Amino acid sequence: MKATFSEATVERLIRISVEKPLMPETYVPWEEPLGDTARFMPEHLISLQGHPLWDTLSPLQQRELGRHEVVQVMYSYAWSEGLACLFFNRHLLSLEPGSVEYRFLLRELIEEFRHQEMFGQVVKKLDGKPVAPGFWHRFWGKWSVRNMPADCVFMSVLSVELMTDLYGKYIRHDDKVHIILRKVSELHNIEEGRHIFYTKLWLERFTARAGFLRRSWYSLLVLANLYFMRTLYVKPQIFERLGVKDPKLYARAAAQNLKQKLGKDCLEEALDFVRSFHGFNWITRPLWRWVMNVKEL
Ligand SMILES: [Fe+2]
Ligand SMILES: [Fe+2]
Repeated sequence: MKATFSEATVERLIRISVEKPLMPETYVPWEEPLGDTARFMPEHLISLQGHPLWDTLSPLQQRELGRHEVVQVMYSYAWSEGLACLFFNRHLLSLEPGSVEYRFLLRELIEEFRHQEMFGQVVKKLDGKPVAPGFWHRFWGKWSVRNMPADCVFMSVLSVELMTDLYGKYIRHDDKVHIILRKVSELHNIEEGRHIFYTKLWLERFTARAGFLRRSWYSLLVLANLYFMRTLYVKPQIFERLGVKDPKLYARAAAQNLKQKLGKDCLEEALDFVRSFHGFNWITRPLWRWVMNVKEL
């Protein structure tokens, strides 16, 4: 039977969060040495892998690229969760204290703060030097969480969560990846699973009665958020650190390659969500193909 947004369902989610908290400080074996051989990312998620330029890198450079990129990914999660928390706080003020929505959102905030601390810890452990988001990322990020209506921001938060969820699944199921990153991804997957479940139900009140234009708008919002995240991952500065001859050329190739790979393998959950509210139509489909390289829609 399909779940609906009911007090009982949300109470159940709150109870799990209260009774089975996953604490990063004990759940993740932070003391495990990094060693010289473990990977930091599944190879197929590294931007340049699969491109002819990948083979011009030494095994050490390939491993380093994985380290720098996973730092970039974790840092971007922490940053976007900081933005989500800004919105959750704003939304909290419109709710009645004691209501299920209010209490769930508090649990989500508590978990998201723990996640940010955990991702920060990964960056530190890997001795990472994340490249901060540029002006437009910061501008749109802050503007949208402060000003957009709640349904649009929840839609944005969910889009990011759906993509990170699939990334997390790949990381936690790859035995070659270092245990710290696998456990971090496992914890995140479990808790985000509840956030995703809740947000989908919450949004149904908007998507269920949305007309053609609103469905198209939601679809484009999801698309914009996926683009927003993807463009935080590949940075020329990282290729400079690897010491390649033409870092800009490498970064361009890597960005293009990642676009192809994500479009093929990493968006299923987000695409299923857009399908669920009939968000693909003659306006949105070409844009999805162009921006995210999604072939089958
Ligand atoms: Fe999170
Ligand atoms: Fe979340």
